[in-house]
Amino acid sequence: MKEKIDLLCSEIESKINSVSTKKELNDLKVEYLGKKGIITELQSGIKDASDKKEYGSEVNRARTTFNDNFDKKSAEIELEELNKKLESENIDISLPALDIPVGSPNILENIIEEVEEVFMSMGYDVVDGPEIEEDKYNFELLNIPKGHPARDAQDTFYIEDENILLRSQTSPVQAREMLKAGGDKPIRMICPGKTYRRDADDATHSHQFMQIEGLLVDKNISLSDLKGTFDVIAKKLFGENCETRFRPSYYQFTEPSVETDISCFVCKGKGCSLCKNTGWITVSGAGMVHPNVLKNCGYDPKVWSGFAFGFGAERLAMLKYGINDIRTFYQTDLRESKAFDRRDV
Ligand code: DAH
Repeated sequence: MKEKIDLLCSEIESKINSVSTKKELNDLKVEYLGKKGIITELQSGIKDASDKKEYGSEVNRARTTFNDNFDKKSAEIELEELNKKLESENIDISLPALDIPVGSPNILENIIEEVEEVFMSMGYDVVDGPEIEEDKYNFELLNIPKGHPARDAQDTFYIEDENILLRSQTSPVQAREMLKAGGDKPIRMICPGKTYRRDADDATHSHQFMQIEGLLVDKNISLSDLKGTFDVIAKKLFGENCETRFRPSYYQFTEPSVETDISCFVCKGKGCSLCKNTGWITVSGAGMVHPNVLKNCGYDPKVWSGFAFGFGAERLAMLKYGINDIRTFYQTDLRESKAFDRRDV
């Protein structure tokens, strides 16, 4: 019996040694330890053995030999597979990196972000309003009733009927914000967004453009608050030496109304083609919110007062970056946007 098991053990060792895959190894397990396996059959022969004790321990020796060799080989194969995998996934760090093209925000996005940062630092909220607007908000609540001649300059695109339009200005957001606040809370907001007019496109006109509206409502607000606020934003955008001035103007939703000018940063006030020899450049319309507008939007003009302003975003960007054709903003030319990208990329 002992010689028979010695022979079996060396057969097991050499067979296990000769395999190189998990499958082959498992096939051997079936061959020796499966239901009809060699060792299993030997085990069942115990009933006919003369010395059952010796027989049993010899069969166990064969089983242990199989299991020990099996475990050893199994670990070897696993290690080999892992090494192969690591080798095949090896990264060659000397290869040049893939060139992934990176985009850039539109120039208008840059200027709007810059203006937002200044106003947010003064406690303003940045809000949104609908581009498809009702006549009521775009005109009527802003003191521009149907048939008012001021509507001519703001002719726009109408949708379905004359009461639904593409907003011709961001000023309707003033009315929306006042109505939302309910007439008893101060408001400080700016609203950048797209606006539309029935204009033929050329170097300085576009049927779609962007404005940055601002509104402050509180108690005891005066024109000097507007002047101080305008001064801050002008200096932030155009430099500490930028001077500001107001000129009387007329808007239906402000009284008094002004045009806000900055000193010409090209000629420093001496006169040049940019400032049309005046030394000043107009950058926004503004004024004290008209009492009718406050009333229309639920604020008592005897208690509350406020100022409002509207910048043309394209105009600001054209001045700041020296761009002379408004169409530059809409052509999504990456060379242009990248040149004025404020992000650190
Ligand atoms: N909405 C005006 C326009 O499109 C600009 C404007 C002027 C806005 C005066 C204002 C303002 O808020 O007070 O021409």
